[in-house]
Amino acid sequence: MLAGKRILIVIGGGIAAYKVLEVIRRLKERGAEVRVILTRSGKEFVTPMTVGALSGEKVFSDLFDPTEEQDIGHIVLSRDTDLILVAPATANLIARMANGIADELATASLLAAAAPIIVCPAMNQRMWAHPATQRNAAQLAADGVRFIGPAEGRMAERNEAGVGRLSEPMDIVAGVEAFFAEATQPKPLAGRHVLVTSGPTIEPIDPVRFITNRSSGKQGHAIAAAAARAGARVTLISGPVSVPNPRGVDVVHVETAREMLDAVFAALPADAAVMAAAVSDWRPAEVAGEKIKKAAGAPPPLSFLENPDILATLGHDNRRPKLVVGFAAETTDVESNAARKLVSKGADYIIANDVSAASGVFGGDSNSVYVLSSAGVEAWPTLAKEEVADRLIGLIAKRLG
Ligand code: C5P
Repeated sequence: MLAGKRILIVIGGGIAAYKVLEVIRRLKERGAEVRVILTRSGKEFVTPMTVGALSGEKVFSDLFDPTEEQDIGHIVLSRDTDLILVAPATANLIARMANGIADELATASLLAAAAPIIVCPAMNQRMWAHPATQRNAAQLAADGVRFIGPAEGRMAERNEAGVGRLSEPMDIVAGVEAFFAEATQPKPLAGRHVLVTSGPTIEPIDPVRFITNRSSGKQGHAIAAAAARAGARVTLISGPVSVPNPRGVDVVHVETAREMLDAVFAALPADAAVMAAAVSDWRPAEVAGEKIKKAAGAPPPLSFLENPDILATLGHDNRRPKLVVGFAAETTDVESNAARKLVSKGADYIIANDVSAASGVFGGDSNSVYVLSSAGVEAWPTLAKEEVADRLIGLIAKRLG
């Protein structure tokens, strides 16, 4: 799996730097070509001599060394590689990466990188837990950087323990192997654009109150992630949810059904659309400009207007994607209600699930669905929402050819 893979390792200045020597050995054993850049402070923890002996390559460190820049240069160093591994990634190095600071060869190379980056954090648990570090790590994740660790355990400092340790060398090697395994998976949706809606919508009553529903967004987000893994360009249009944005997906955040409708049509053309959002069927007829005051004994009346049906609008539009998939959350007569929706909404598939309280679907991690199409009904076993997503994406890939 790693044979011939070119891996650039950036070693930061942390006490765990010595463990990365083991990572270099194990990657080399598996046939990878390893080159190393030491940060300035990395050199305080491991010597270029040791690293060079293990990697069998010249070790780079100084941005302003004219021979090094002529030799290869930071642009080439970061381009001519299949993966960049940053280990140990100190709080300081993570902060510089998150802010695009290129103040030495290591950070300049990371900023110039075209290859995917995996960061292995290593620092005192308090530094890892600090909001500044968490913010920087979240920024890197949003930029598409992956993480291995940090692990939990004892710190270099006496009597200190927590989350912040560098992952064990073999866990880092396993993470690198998993990365390449995923990268070589078939991409049946390459070149396709898939649109996914997810989460609830919220409909304001006044500036502080709204009505909504119990959708967590887990299923829709899992579908977007699965489509991205299958190689599609994915636009995910999401109502307010607490699940994180999936990796490699363009996310458009909306609140109301009408905003979601606009975002869906703005994202066209698409090859397939999966409408997994739980769109509010109604919205308050009037939205008060100011907070509605509580008056004793006189709760305000609420009247509602119907929201646009996004799925039905798209299903019957002439810009309709080739494949349109809807969901049907039912608490009774799941199959027959879903069959009716297949026709009324102009969908190619309806994925019907039972969301009665006993099913535990809302907010839960698994789902039992029926898949309805003009060809009939198929009942899938109870599966993790990720597996439902993978199966559905498989179905879509097959139908799109
Ligand atoms: O009619 P019902 O709400 O059961 O239909 C569910 C399907 O229709 C889901 O795919 C949902 O995303 C979609 N829907 C929609 N716009 C609405 C209501 C539902 O797109 N206003």
